[in-house]
Amino acid sequence: MPDHPHTSSQAAPRLDLYAPIHKALRAWMFDTLQRVGRTDGHDARTFEQTLSCVASLLAICESHIRHEQAFLHPLLEQARHDAAKEADGAHLDHAREIAHLRQRVDSLKQAAPAVRHAALTQLYRELALFVAENLTHMHWEETVHNETLWACYTDAQLMQTHDALVQSIAPQEMAETLRHMLPALAPCERLGMLSDMRAKMPAGAFEGVLALIHEALNVHDAAALLQGLGLPPALPAVCLPAQG
Ligand SMILES: [Fe+2]
Repeated sequence: MPDHPHTSSQAAPRLDLYAPIHKALRAWMFDTLQRVGRTDGHDARTFEQTLSCVASLLAICESHIRHEQAFLHPLLEQARHDAAKEADGAHLDHAREIAHLRQRVDSLKQAAPAVRHAALTQLYRELALFVAENLTHMHWEETVHNETLWACYTDAQLMQTHDALVQSIAPQEMAETLRHMLPALAPCERLGMLSDMRAKMPAGAFEGVLALIHEALNVHDAAALLQGLGLPPALPAVCLPAQG
């Protein structure tokens, strides 16, 4: 049975296991949808890049479902019978929609340039509905699920689940997720996440995360994050005028 959390710290913000990844997914979905909307089927290079981006989004959505099913839904069910039932059903629907969208992408790959525009418009509309459903679903998880998790588990217990989930993610997927997550978070959230990662990751692996900062963030945001971590800003090499 789950322990009961301390009630004296209710005013303090609780650990939200959904918020960071859902911010990343929302940004990822919006970026991808916009990309599909502005793609010209006669521009082969952009067309292929767009289909690749849609495939990546579908893969991360599928992986996200697996993570929630494996790590969060058992916690919810342990807290209260059927607490994850509605989301279980939604995940099955999402898996079917992902398979359908994947078929759309596969048939688009075979489509002649003359018919790509109509097929892209169809993909754009269906992807928009998939995004809409996911927005509603993520809101449910961030409100109804979190209410159950916060009532039945301490932040320390939730952090154990968080760490186990993160450790199950392959390095390549982690890097791709961070590229979308870092710009989607508020500066204080970025700093909190990176501080936690620095404390828990091997130094070499954290160096890889630091390299991603410059790739994912603009110069200002990257400098602010490094300063918050107490690290020197990695400025591009410049030729300074000779003194005196
Ligand atoms: Fe979910």
